[in-house]
Amino acid sequence: IRTAILISGRGSNMMAIASACSARGSPAEVCLVVSNRPAAAGLVWAEQQQIPTLVIDHTHHSTRESFEEALHSELMKHRIEFVCLAGFMRILTEGFVKLWRGRLINIHPSLLPAFKGKDAQKQALHAGVKLTGCTVHYVEAEVDSGAIIAQASVPVLEGDTEQTLSDRIVLAEHEIFPRSVLEVAARLQQQQQVV
Ligand code: GRF
Repeated sequence: IRTAILISGRGSNMMAIASACSARGSPAEVCLVVSNRPAAAGLVWAEQQQIPTLVIDHTHHSTRESFEEALHSELMKHRIEFVCLAGFMRILTEGFVKLWRGRLINIHPSLLPAFKGKDAQKQALHAGVKLTGCTVHYVEAEVDSGAIIAQASVPVLEGDTEQTLSDRIVLAEHEIFPRSVLEVAARLQQQQQVV
């Protein structure tokens, strides 16, 4: 399954996914990494791995729709079948989400449906929960909703800051996100064979 990973920054989840997909027999092949930010650090790593990369700078587009049209047309050009949002910090509109329904997944740093939206780790600290985590889910038009694929829980420890908690959560993300990518890709591959 030809897979694209969309990033905006560091790209540690992208690295974990790409590594898992490079294993022999993987149903997913990472064929493209797209960033909406030219300075995303993850782009450098992807280039070093000889994964095709692309910047679609959202600041060069006056509307979300025009940004998404550019994105969709690049995904088509690269014959992408499956899209993973890995720290991709743009909200996608209903139009785009519809085109990719069932083939578009995201990682969120909380146990959804708790702490949707921005700064989920900060929200968890403020709420005083002792347990938070991360969620891989299908993307629907409504932000951080959509069927859950996998979750992992992570303890909140005494004295945690947003940084220390985020660092702990991201380690759990590196476990569940690659696994989910392989699972969904295997399912997509099966569907293809049935048709
Ligand atoms: C992850 O914690 C993800 O859940 C959040 O942004 C972070 C991305 O990290 N939305 P990275 O770019 O994959 O290293």
